[in-house]
Amino acid sequence: MVNILKENMISSGIEFLAERAKDPAFNPFGNAPTLILITADKTAGFVEIDCVAAAENILIAAESLGLGSHIMTSTELLFTSEKGKKLKQELGVPDGYEHICTIALGYKDESPPAKPRRKDVINYIK
Ligand SMILES: Cc1cc2nc3c(=O)[nH]c(=O)nc-3n(C[C@H](O)[C@H](O)[C@H](O)COP(=O)(O)O)c2cc1C
Repeated sequence: MVNILKENMISSGIEFLAERAKDPAFNPFGNAPTLILITADKTAGFVEIDCVAAAENILIAAESLGLGSHIMTSTELLFTSEKGKKLKQELGVPDGYEHICTIALGYKDESPPAKPRRKDVINYIK
């Protein structure tokens, strides 16, 4: 999956992704050993909201178990090539289902402090 994603990043035409992927040491999943790929039938109503709510629950559950997690959407490039389409089949993604997001999971090798909350992005009406 690392190789397929890197190949597709290089051929994506998105310059910053291509530049990143050209680095042989770059691992788009941050060397995480486990990935959860969320796919869905995008013709179903509000499906992205459902999936991202599920993703958020996975991120919170991971944190509660002492795992690090990383939500990703650049993984939509995973299935763009012929190799990617084969991978999609191998992974058992049902026909008609498309990529929504990926969650990389693993044990953290660093624990940076939480960033300060941006309270200015919420309007409180009293
Ligand atoms: C919707 C969404 C998609 C993201 N996609 C990617 C991605 O494809 N690749 C990546 O390295 N980080 C991606 N990120 C960023 C990371 O998940 C994470 O939010 C970022 O590293 C900042 O983490 P921090 O706030 O803990 O520093 C995405 C974040 C969001 C919210």
